[in-house]
Amino acid sequence: MNKLADVQCNTEDPAGWQGSLAGLLSSGTVFRLNEPLAKKTTLRVGGPADVYVEPCCEADVDAVVRFCRASDLPWFVLGRGSNLLIRDGGIRGVVINLGHAYFNRICVDGTKLECGAGAKLKAVALHARNHALTGLEFLEGIPGSVGGALRMNAGAMGSAIFEQVETVRFLDPELGLRSMTPPQLKPAYRGCSSLVNTVVLGAELRGADGVAAEIQRTMDTFSRKRWQSQPAAPSAGCVFKNAPTVPAGRLIEELELKGTRIGGAMISMEHGNFFVNTGNATAQDFLALIDLVREKALKQRAIELETEVQIIGE
Ligand code: EPU
Repeated sequence: MNKLADVQCNTEDPAGWQGSLAGLLSSGTVFRLNEPLAKKTTLRVGGPADVYVEPCCEADVDAVVRFCRASDLPWFVLGRGSNLLIRDGGIRGVVINLGHAYFNRICVDGTKLECGAGAKLKAVALHARNHALTGLEFLEGIPGSVGGALRMNAGAMGSAIFEQVETVRFLDPELGLRSMTPPQLKPAYRGCSSLVNTVVLGAELRGADGVAAEIQRTMDTFSRKRWQSQPAAPSAGCVFKNAPTVPAGRLIEELELKGTRIGGAMISMEHGNFFVNTGNATAQDFLALIDLVREKALKQRAIELETEVQIIGE
């Protein structure tokens, strides 16, 4: 039987390299051409992916990455799209998303949590609470997956995910399957360069024995704090990394830029480092707003703001 018939595909007969790639994948893997991506990001902008794959197993992740490497095709791993600005022309090559149930597992063993890369951070926090494990409460309000959070060393409420990591399992296209500890991976503030151009498959996180009711109280406090200071409208979280001398949100407020709009993109009135989609924004609107803020910060305060949000595509 032609393997392609087993693959979910929105084009009857993909030609060329797309067809060859589809033919390598197992029946449970989702394979689509020209897949719209805007709704797979929290910012809700950006163009389509040439090819979109949701592998149902690690072997298929490996097959995609090997194929791309052999064919000199670009590939990109899309997490929950919460820290991402995809340009309006979309993404050439292959977008891999570990949204399949296989990658969502969270297994507790003593004070350790073995998590798939696709597991939601909120689910990790709730799992830890259910097992009376403390230390992971800060993950409850970060709208990302474990894989994306590790790539970005995501954080909130004064903590960052790598502080709770025992090991990370990932696929290095050149070296194959690897498992490394934080000292080996050398994470930084909002980034982990060792994981660029790899596919994070899962991680072992560390909790500590606690009391479920206290853990819940901490999560409630964090949640209240977030809702009081951050907008509910669609955004990509913080746009810029905080500068060493001043938090980006405060700087943007001091520059009197809150409420500034370009097209459908607006700097949030609630928090200056959040840019929100008021309904019909394009990626170009957000990019223009980012440039405007960076220029003013440089001109008026001699501060070079660095984007935290990942900007990709054409
Ligand atoms: N501030 C203002 N005006 C604003 C926004 C903030 O004056 O419009 C002031 C606040 O009053 C505070 C300081 O700036 O004194 C810092 O603000 P906040 O406590 O909101 O924290 P942040 O540094 O802006 C960081 C993370 C967030 C995380 C929060 C809460 C970064 C870039 N951001 O924000 O992470 O949710 O702490 O813990 O490190 C993200 O990474 O996408 C993100 C949202």
